[in-house]
Formats: sequence, structure tokens, C-alpha cells
Amino acid sequence: MNLHFIALDAGCLVGTLRDVNPRIRPEVHGAIDSTSDELRRRAVRDDDIDRLAIVADTQTAGRGRQGRDWVDRPGGSLLFSLGWTTALAPEHLAGLTLAAGVAVCVALEAAGADGVKLKWPNDVLYAHRKLGGILVESLARPAGGSTVILGVGINVALDAATRGRVDAAITDLDATGWRGTREATLAGILCELDRTLERFAEAGFAPFRAAWLARHALQQRNVSVRSAGREVAAGRAIGVDDQGALLLQTPTGIRRLLSGELTLRPG
Ligand code: BTN
Repeated sequence: MNLHFIALDAGCLVGTLRDVNPRIRPEVHGAIDSTSDELRRRAVRDDDIDRLAIVADTQTAGRGRQGRDWVDRPGGSLLFSLGWTTALAPEHLAGLTLAAGVAVCVALEAAGADGVKLKWPNDVLYAHRKLGGILVESLARPAGGSTVILGVGINVALDAATRGRVDAAITDLDATGWRGTREATLAGILCELDRTLERFAEAGFAPFRAAWLARHALQQRNVSVRSAGREVAAGRAIGVDDQGALLLQTPTGIRRLLSGELTLRPG
């Protein structure tokens, strides 16, 4: 596929958000190392990053979970990080990645992307391929509470060169029935995330649990959970609890897992 680079229309994104949710403060960059690293730098120098959304057309050092790179096609992805300051301590943020996943799905569905699923804890999937990912990082605030950096990457239109750089099954919004512009979709996701943060601050993950389960790609499937390259548990994925922990039915009972990588087991 020969796709041309088209930069985000910053004026359009800023104008849309000003109309629908002026609390979100978008800042659009052409290229940046990582939108999450930029927010972290601002947080460390004590800037107010609450509801500041750093958006980019491309990242030169995009980061995924577990130290992996996040690869994008310049102009063919949605890449942003949203800052949030909250009275919740870091240990109460466990289910936030999952709640954010629901917000991303809801916004993508509203833009016509049918059948988008979630894989615990942070993958956004379409047709069993990775469409996007969520990276939630937090810093404890000296006065209490947390500064949260919520990074989201979604493939919009991949090309062969980008696919060749990723050692995993990936897909893009163009494959999903999505109709829209990157600007409108970004605005939709940011607004949905803002609503999610408000609700999460009041009630945690519990109100999002049913919506998350309804979209869980591996619900009732036999899975293996790996951490640091080795299997730490195996069993049937029977759901998540109100803290966002994965519940696994194993031969010796139900196990509750707080982190790990999930893969489908054959058979
Ligand atoms: C994952 O699935 O491993 C999470 C990927 C998160 C990628 C996004 S892209 C915007 C933000 N900036 C980064 O460097 N990473 C996140």
C-alpha cells in the first residue's frame, strides 16, 4: 500500500474539543519521542498536566508495555497521552487500564468500528489482531494522590513497511468499518476517557466491569499467562473482578492475577 503522509489538522482537533469538552487541553505535535515521555517531563518539572493531551503524528521512541517499542506509521495512527491528577493513590488505580479500554471501544464503536474487543489487561483487538494498546503510568504525588499518564496508540492505516517492523499480528481501523477522521475520532476518545476518569474517581473499576466483560476477546477461553518470559499460570479465563484482576479457573481453584501477558492455549 502506498499511503501518503497527511498531518493531523490541529485546528480542527482543538476547535472540536473546545466545543464539546473545553476541560481537555490538546497539544498537537508532528514528531515527538513519546507523548507519554513528554507528559512525564512536564509532570516532573511540576507543570499542570491535568487533562493535558499530547497528540502526535509520529513517535521516534514510542513505548509499549513491558519495555517493548510502539511502532507507528507517520500520519497513519492515533497517538496520544492524557494527563490526569487524582486524589486516588497509585495502588487504587489497578483497574484504570481496563476502564480506559472500555472508553476506547465505546468511542471507536461510535465511529463505526464494529467488533472491537479487549484482551486483558491492555490490548485493543479486532479480528484477533492487535489494533491498539493502552499504557497507564502513575507517579505518587508528594502531597498524596497520583499523577497519571494514560497513553493510547491505535493503528489507523498501516502499510507493508510498518507491518514488517512489528513481530505480532496487527491490524488497523481501516479494516473495521471505521468511518471518520482521525481528528473526530481522537476527540471522541478523549471525551469518553474524560467521562471515564470522572466515574473511576468516584467508584473505581466496578461500574465498567460488565462493559469490559462484554468485550473480552478471551472470555471462557483456555489461556496461558506469562510474566518475564515464563508461564506463571494456565487455565480458563472466567472474568475479572472489581479491581480489574484476571480470574482464572485452574485445576486447583480460581486464581486472581494482577499482571502478565495472556495468550490463547491450543485445544
Ligand atoms: C501496549 O500495547 O504495549 C501499549 C502501547 C501504548 C502506546 C502509546 S502511543 C502513545 C503513548 N506514547 C507512548 O510512547 N506509548 C503510548
